[in-house]
Amino acid sequence: MGTTWVFGYGSLVFRPGFAFLDRQRAVLPGHRRVFFQGSPDHRGTPDAPGRVVTLEPHAAGAVGGMCFLVAEDAFGAVIDALDEREQGGYVREVMQVHGDAGPLSAWVFYATPDNPHYLGPASPAAIAAHAHRATGPSGANREYVLRLAASLRDLGFDDAHVFAVERELLALGDAGG
Ligand code: BEZ
Repeated sequence: MGTTWVFGYGSLVFRPGFAFLDRQRAVLPGHRRVFFQGSPDHRGTPDAPGRVVTLEPHAAGAVGGMCFLVAEDAFGAVIDALDEREQGGYVREVMQVHGDAGPLSAWVFYATPDNPHYLGPASPAAIAAHAHRATGPSGANREYVLRLAASLRDLGFDDAHVFAVERELLALGDAGG
């Protein structure tokens, strides 16, 4: 049976949402994870998009995440599910990652600055303020940030940007505004 790997660095880390045969921690070199993508359909609405992560090239960077092994004949369904779930401007590409068990080629989904939902850079405080008030069909943007940060911590990954946004968000308290 043919198989393929999918690298998750955002919601896939805590909610893959598809069947997989195996998984392992993995690191994608040469990139950083940033809350620069707007989510008009999951953690926000078209009028008030949330902020979710994408990747950007960063020579000295390394992004910790989770690689999922998927049966090749199920991959079409995975793509369909991710395209439907993350329809806000993501493209996909095979990249080389360092899995805990060795090097892997894996599909990676990311959003580029030329997509219509891209929001771009902002300070951790501004991103947190945004996430504090946004909510969409998949739930509160706040929950997305906190679950991602907690999952990365559980997996033993450090991510200064994610943890800075988490810190700012926690300082804002519980409820959205
Ligand atoms: C992720 O969780 O890694 C992810 C999945 C689909 C699109 C973007 C990111």
